[in-house]
Order: sequence, then structure tokens, then C-alpha cells
Amino acid sequence: MKAKLLIIDDDESLSSFLGEMFKEDYDIANFSDPSVAIQYLRENHVDVVLTDMIMPKISGMEILQIVKSESFDVDVIVMTAFSNVENAVEMMKKGAVDYIVKPFKPDELSLRLKNIFSKRKLIEDNVFLHKVVDTLYRPENMIGESASMREVYRLIEVFSQNDLPVLITGETGVGKELTAKALHFSGKRKGKRFVSINCSAIPDNLLESELFGHMKGSFSGAGANKKGLFELAEGGTIFLDEIGDLPLSLQPKLLRTLQEREVRPLGGTHDIIVDVRVICATNKDLMKMIQEKEFRIDLYYRINAASIHLSPLRERKEDIALYVSHFFAGKKKVHPKALRLLYQYPWPGNVRELKHVVERLMILTDGKVITPFDIPPLLIKHPPSFDCEQSYTDSKRKLVDEFDLKIITGALLKCYGNVTKAAKEVGLDRRNFQKLMRKCKITHDSFIENRKSDASN
Ligand SMILES: Nc1ncnc2c1ncn2[C@@H]1O[C@H](COP(=O)(O)OP(=O)(O)O)[C@@H](O)[C@H]1O
Ligand SMILES: [Mg+2]
Repeated sequence: MKAKLLIIDDDESLSSFLGEMFKEDYDIANFSDPSVAIQYLRENHVDVVLTDMIMPKISGMEILQIVKSESFDVDVIVMTAFSNVENAVEMMKKGAVDYIVKPFKPDELSLRLKNIFSKRKLIEDNVFLHKVVDTLYRPENMIGESASMREVYRLIEVFSQNDLPVLITGETGVGKELTAKALHFSGKRKGKRFVSINCSAIPDNLLESELFGHMKGSFSGAGANKKGLFELAEGGTIFLDEIGDLPLSLQPKLLRTLQEREVRPLGGTHDIIVDVRVICATNKDLMKMIQEKEFRIDLYYRINAASIHLSPLRERKEDIALYVSHFFAGKKKVHPKALRLLYQYPWPGNVRELKHVVERLMILTDGKVITPFDIPPLLIKHPPSFDCEQSYTDSKRKLVDEFDLKIITGALLKCYGNVTKAAKEVGLDRRNFQKLMRKCKITHDSFIENRKSDASN
């Protein structure tokens, strides 16, 4: 859809000439009577108004005033004679976006219009993206119904309403960054930036300039002045991830920033006042680091005015099924027996690891149902270790039996209880497969019964 350009000039030949000229690029409405144009503005969507300054009855200035007072989302550009440039400047002060002096070359006007429209497009995209991001990171979009996750949601709600520094703790992959974003995007700073930096990913000597900025020539390689992230986050939130890796040498400077709400760029002579909320995260034991003199206790108390702890996934197993179905997004179902295998795994990489496993299963499995056979072997709990009290033969038999059981049930599950197909699946003939089924005490009927009860659980 073309953008709408409204042209107003009492000189009818000029307004229709301009209309002709721009009709390829824009959807045009042109008027020589400003009062009709205003009526049109009130009833139609218009992006940009190109208006003459001096006209009988209604002036360009009055049109601008109407646009502003009735808060149309319209940009106004004025055409004016050279003798009237001062008025045009006055109009810019009142909110016109640009002016052009008559007589002008059509190309010049064309260029100015292009700039105005592309700026409008940027602003529109930005508003749209803000809306998308807003809905992405709301706590309502976080998954998990365990008591510990509900406590996390409660804390997000409380802390998003104030400006206290928050320390988010928990193992890798538990959702610390997601929590920080939820805090930002549900608070009053959500229209401003969320700036994130991982303190462990940036070499110590660059971290200071990254955070606080630098002046040209303050160190070799500092070719131009550069704003630090604190300045870039003005009005918004800075997320200092892996704060435990902030070098001791930088800790006093961060402490000062938190206390004074000021930053001083490297090589700078003035402090710059910043209004930024600070959220930190770590998977390290900061208390232990304090004892070992690797982290300053005064900084710890500053960043830890409020805290949120995220439990590892293995301590809230009830959430596993929720994550699995959320990440599969209805595209696949997981058989209860496969789910059981996922419950047994300790998930050292937490939700991130689970998400990756699901993404892999999405790509690598054909069927609609994920069976125990599909679960990557690495995730399957190792067989129980040998009990020294047991004889070698007993232990071995137990292991072999467990192995057979796993293979047989896995194949049956995959083939929906069809014995002939299941035998083929594991490379046995039907007779030998049935022999194994008897040894494992699986009858066809008991298998189907089991499946039904699993499915209804
Ligand atoms: N509660 C949750 N709901 C939905 N997705 C989550 C949740 N927690 C973590 N994730 C997902 O897991 C991955 C890791 O989360 P992240 O916040 O980066 O963890 P951390 O910062 O603790 O290492 C991300 O893809 C994130 O979207
Ligand atoms: Mg992280």
C-alpha cells in the first residue's frame, strides 16, 4: 500500500502539477481550497501534508495548528516564498518537519519527501517492534507452574514496580536472562532500552570502556568518542550477566555508578548522570567469592537489594512436561514412557538443554509421537551400578534383562504394539522376538493395557 500525501496550494496549477509528479510514488490527494483539505484530513488517513504557507482564508500555519491540536499522526512540510522563510522557521518550532523555499527543483522536494516517509517508516517499525517485544517477554509467557516458578512470577510483579537493583541467581539455562527481561518489560521502563552484557564474554581491558564509554585517544585504539552501555541504556535497564566474572579492578567503579548514579567515560573529565536500572545475574556462589576475596562485599549488598532465585529443573520436575509440550508447540506428542526417561535425567543445562533436545527431536524424528527409542542415549539414565553383594552372574542377568525389556518395549511402542513390525524394527524374527517377550513377561494384551493406562495418566 502506498503512503498518503496530501497537497494543499491555492495555486491550482502548482498543486495539480505536484500531484501528477508524485502519483507514481504516493497515493495523492490534492486541494486548492484549504478548508476542503481540512475536511478531508478529518475523514481520511493521511501520512504527510505538503502545504503552501500563504493562502487566502486559511494559512499553512493554521493547518499545522489543526493537525497538532487534533493530534493527527501526520507530518507537515511547508512550501514558502523566500521572503517568508522566517515564518517557515516559526512553523518548524511549532512542529512542522521541514520546509522548502519556492521556487524549488522537483528533485529537491522529492528527496525531502523520501526522507520524511522513510523516517515515518522507521518510527512505525519501531513502535511495532516494541509491541512485539513487549508481549514476548511478559511473565505470562514464562512457562512453569511449580511452586518455585510461581514465587518467581510473584517477585517479578513486585520488583517490576520499583527501581531496586535485582540479583538473579541460578544455574546456567534456568531462565535468568528471561527473568531479567520480564522484569524490564513489565515495568515502567519498558518503552526504553534493555541493554545486556555478559561480563565473562568480554576481555577485562575492554569491559570498562564497553560499560562506561571512552573519550577519543584515552587508550591506543580509542579512535573516536564512544558511549558506554550505561549511557545507551538511559531511562531503561542494563543487565549485567555473569556478574561474578566482573574483574575486581572494575568493581569499585561499578559500585560508584550504583551509588552516585553517574558514570565517567575512560579518559573523560566529567561525570555523566545516568538513570538506569541495574539487574545482575550469576551462577556463581558470590558469598564464597567474597570469602575468597574475589568479590567485594559492598558491591554485593548494592546489587542484591532485591533477589530472585531460579531453581534447577531437576528440583521442579513437574515443570518438565509443560516445557516439553510448549517447545513442541503441538507438533508432536511425547509418549508417557519417553516422558518418564526425561524425568529421570538430571538436566545440568536446565531449560536451555531441554529446549535443545526438543529442537533436535523435532528435526530428527518422523512420527507424531516421541517414543522412548527416540530419546538420545546420552539422556537415558545409566543402568544401576553393580551391587557388590550380588554375584557377577546375577548382576549380569539383571542388566541383560533390563536391556531386553527396554529394547522390546521400545520397539513395541514405536510400532504401536504390532509384534511383527516391532521384531523387524530390532532385527529379530517374529519367533525370537516373542520368546524375548515371554522372558520379559510382556504379553501383547498386557502391553496394550499398559499403554492405555499410561495414555490416560
Ligand atoms: N520459564 C521459562 N519459560 C520458557 N522458556 C524458558 C524459561 N526459562 C528458560 N527458558 C528458555 O531457556 C533458554 C535459556 O534461558 P536463559 O534465560 O538464557 O537462561 P540463563 O540466563 O539462566 O542461562 C532460553 O531459550 C529461554 O527462552
Ligand atoms: Mg544467561
